Amino acid sequence: MEMELYANKNNVPIIGHDASRTLIEVVQAKQPLFILEIGAAIGYSAILLASQAPQARLITIEKDRERAKEAETFISQAGLKERVSLLAGDAGEILPKLNGPFDFVFIDAAKGQYLDYLTKILDKLQPGAVVVADNVLFRGMVENNIVPRRFRTIIRRLKAYLEFVETSGRFETAVLPIGDGLAISYFKG
Ligand SMILES: C[S@@+](CC[C@H](N)C(=O)[O-])C[C@H]1O[C@@H](n2cnc3c(N)ncnc32)[C@H](O)[C@@H]1O
Repeated sequence: MEMELYANKNNVPIIGHDASRTLIEVVQAKQPLFILEIGAAIGYSAILLASQAPQARLITIEKDRERAKEAETFISQAGLKERVSLLAGDAGEILPKLNGPFDFVFIDAAKGQYLDYLTKILDKLQPGAVVVADNVLFRGMVENNIVPRRFRTIIRRLKAYLEFVETSGRFETAVLPIGDGLAISYFKG
C-alpha cells in the first residue's frame, strides 16, 4: 500500500491491479527458482514476485538511477535483500552479460524493446520457463488499424514481439486483455 501511494504521488508507473492479480496467479502456480524482471521502477512488482515465490532468487533491472535507489530501499524494507538483486543500467546492455537459466521472466520496461530483450535472453531460458510481458496491447492500439503517428514505432515493435512469441514455434502464448494487455508465453525450448 505504501508503495502504491508513493508510485501514485510520484508518477511512477507500476503494474495495474488486474494485471498484478494475474501475475501473482501465474507465479504462484509456477513456483520458479530464478526470476528475471526487466523494468523494476521502484521494485513493486519485484517484491510481489519474490514474495509469491519464496524459493526464488530474482534479478531485476532498472535504468533510471533514482528509481533504482528507491527500489533498493523498498526491497530492503520488505526483507528481500538476500534474494532480490537490483542491477542499475540499461537492460539492453546488461542482459547479454547475465547467466541463466531463468525459469520466469517479467518484461515491463521500454515497450519498443521487448523483442530485443527476449532475443538477448533466449539462450538463458530453461525449457518450461514462463515469460510474462505487460502492456502488449498498448491502450488497444495494437489491435487497432488507426494509430497516432507518434506511437507507430512502438506499436510495430509490440506486434513484432507478439508475432515472435506466437509463431516462432519456441513458445505457446496466450494474450490476455487484462490491464493494458498481458502476454503469457510458455517456453518450449
Ligand atoms: C512500467 S515501469 C516498471 C514497473 C514495475 N515492473 C512494476 O510493476 O512495479 C517501466 C520501468 O522500466 C524502466 N526502463 C525503461 N527502459 C529500460 C531499459 N532499457 N533498461 C532498464 N530499465 C528500463 C523505466 O525507467 C521504468 O522505471
